[in-house]
Amino acid sequence: MNNKPTKATISFDNGAAPIELPVLSGSLGNDVIDIRALGKHDIFTYDPGFMSTAACNSSITFIDGENGLLYYRGYPIEELAEHCDYLEVAYLLMHGELPNATEKQEFIATISGSSMLHDQLNNIFRGFRRDAHPMAVMVGVVGSLSAFYFDSMDIREAKHRELSAHRLLAKVPTIAAWSYKYNLGQPFMYPQNHLNYAENFMHMMFATPCEKYEPNPILAKAFDRILILHADHEQNASTSTVRLVGSSGANPFACISAGIASLWGPAHGGANEATLNMLEEIGDISRIGEYLKRAKDKTDNFRLMGFGHRVYRNMDPRAAIMRKTCHEVLNELGLNDDPMFKLAMELEKIALEDEYFVSRKLYPNVDFYSGIVMRAMGIPNSMFTAIFALARTAGWIAQWSEMHSDPEAKIGRPRQLYTGAARRTVMPVSKR
Ligand code: CMC
Repeated sequence: MNNKPTKATISFDNGAAPIELPVLSGSLGNDVIDIRALGKHDIFTYDPGFMSTAACNSSITFIDGENGLLYYRGYPIEELAEHCDYLEVAYLLMHGELPNATEKQEFIATISGSSMLHDQLNNIFRGFRRDAHPMAVMVGVVGSLSAFYFDSMDIREAKHRELSAHRLLAKVPTIAAWSYKYNLGQPFMYPQNHLNYAENFMHMMFATPCEKYEPNPILAKAFDRILILHADHEQNASTSTVRLVGSSGANPFACISAGIASLWGPAHGGANEATLNMLEEIGDISRIGEYLKRAKDKTDNFRLMGFGHRVYRNMDPRAAIMRKTCHEVLNELGLNDDPMFKLAMELEKIALEDEYFVSRKLYPNVDFYSGIVMRAMGIPNSMFTAIFALARTAGWIAQWSEMHSDPEAKIGRPRQLYTGAARRTVMPVSKR
């Protein structure tokens, strides 16, 4: 028997007529009450942080936070991480199906064929301070792509949208790696098309013109996995930002640049960098107790970075995969006894047993482990969020394209509960 409601009724305690609203069902997950008709009655709902609001329909990613499930286009993240590489996953997110062998080869050729940047973009990098944060550089340079690739910016044209999507997926790794090289003062390394997506990024990050660089296959695989796990995550802050910016018809490069800006925040993509900064601040296993005490103290703003998640109230499935990868990488590099990694593992153990964290279901999230993996690979903390942005580009593009193909999509325009002054009269300055 189907006990699901098909209608909901809002009644009012002032005698106004009740309003009947349809209940919509998706293919998985929660049903939603369709409140679109309320606006016609001049009634609005209040939901800061969108805790109870579905802002769109989407067939890309499904999360069940209670049960720790994450699917891209119906495929569990565990299977994708095991059997696919990042470009296959990006293709899946963008096209809805995994590529066959021919489609995969064609996609690789298309993306690697677009990985160079317009030469004039070098000058844009050179306008930044050398110590600029890579995310600051990425927000600027990705946004500036719209000044270079305006032949693909008519968002009403499917071909333009596809060309921009390919350009973004191809060029964001180059931009991210160059933002690091620029910090270091080393020459920019050009993409190498014979390398795969992950290896090519590592080459652009770590190679110099002076020496031959061979990416370590275990580290390249781990890096590829980081990209897969971060490729999409439903309607999170940065994805919602991309959709909101895109809803006005803004060009794709501006939309992804806005997504990068949103991701930068420490409560979102900045958490992996913040985790390593926090571990450095804690410094020693003997100080874990002091920091746990601070994390529990409601008068202290400090939070244990890399713990907790808005949606997962169970172990984040990505964290479980990354935890395994983390141990593989530490073993490969012989870093199990490194004091920083020992500290991280001890913090994980203590927090997983602590009543405060257990009762609130605050588990280590994917960024706790991905930060440790990237640190072990020699990637500096300041690049962590840039790499998250590079991974998430596939998801942002897929979500942006889906929005533009959705006949129900509208410009995003939330309402508000006004709490300011009622009408008042301006007094001359002498009387204020
Ligand atoms: N350390 C200490 N206490 C915490 C933490 C934490 N990291 N996270 C949540 N809490 C407490 C919070 O104080 C609250 O306690 P109480 O019920 O006593 O008031 C309870 O747990 C519920 O927290 P919440 O603030 O309602 O949870 P939220 O859904 O609003 O916030 C979060 C989720 C991710 C912003 C938060 O857990 C956090 O700030 N974590 C640290 C930052 C982090 O690692 N973010 C990365 C998320 S994964 C990457 C991504 O997908 O973007």
